[in-house]
Amino acid sequence: MYEITVRLPTKKIERIIPHLYQKGYYHTFYEVPLDVVTDANGYAFVEKKNETTDLNIYINDFVEAKERRKLVELLDINESSLVVKEVNEQNYQQTFDDIFLENGWVITTPNSMNHYDITRRIVLDSQGNFGTGYHETTRDCLHFILNQDFRGLSVADIGAGSGVLSIAAALKGARTIDTYDIQPVEREIHYQCELNGVKPVNVFHSDLIKNNNVINKEYDWVFLNIGTQENRDILNAQRLLTCKNTTFILSGMLEWNFQLVESIFIEAGFKLKEKKQSNEWVTCLFKTK
Ligand SMILES: C[S@@+](CC[C@H](N)C(=O)[O-])C[C@H]1O[C@@H](n2cnc3c(N)ncnc32)[C@H](O)[C@@H]1O
Repeated sequence: MYEITVRLPTKKIERIIPHLYQKGYYHTFYEVPLDVVTDANGYAFVEKKNETTDLNIYINDFVEAKERRKLVELLDINESSLVVKEVNEQNYQQTFDDIFLENGWVITTPNSMNHYDITRRIVLDSQGNFGTGYHETTRDCLHFILNQDFRGLSVADIGAGSGVLSIAAALKGARTIDTYDIQPVEREIHYQCELNGVKPVNVFHSDLIKNNNVINKEYDWVFLNIGTQENRDILNAQRLLTCKNTTFILSGMLEWNFQLVESIFIEAGFKLKEKKQSNEWVTCLFKTK
């Protein structure tokens, strides 16, 4: 794993993180510079204005020149300000706290799984792919999924990452689940299935934008949480909008551009049934009826 560090104004980091996410840089970290002040209750922390701080971006494979060009352009910086360091994954101990979801479910780790009711927990041992439950888009997809009964239904989880959405659907009774990802995620997804005691889902490794018609089957449900443009491209390349009996959960879109996805669903005869927004991230549920 590689850690790429660049020092930037915090305001710029806040603006840039959604763009990094849309380009596939899902693992980022920065500390908000804080000032300690005293108030009526004792001490309080206030964000320091106009400060700079280190933004760390974590990636699995570093492709020197290509990656540098991409980041320099995205971050609008001088190339010399990028510092790249290889991080030994064994020493890179990321600890995850349990995540309490709105509907009484919890995402927990193998170490603390026994603290929770088996019927309302998702066990995840992150292996580095996207989908720990920390990101708003994952949590909002789970909000919709965990409120549904999937018994007997088929699901396609596109851009499955860790497979967290598939695990949720499996725990809610889905009959068949096919996952698709551009990354080799099979080992991680099967491991997460095992931790949750659900039968292994099918894993297909493919770029669903470049490769047309990989999905040549109609599902009862499709989950798609990548990014506004990527979602549109995949819906087109896989001709998913011809599946009029499918219910779609779309996420990874931003409040200022989710309409680009909504409009192609409306044109294809779907209705926006529910919408959930957390910070700038928008998640939508579409179906025709
Ligand atoms: C934001 S993550 C979502 C992970 C998980 N479904 C969740 O909701 O937390 C997006 C995933 O889409 C995958 N992805 C990106 N572009 C893709 C493409 N063109 N074809 C298939 N998968 C893609 C990424 O590898 C990543 O695992």
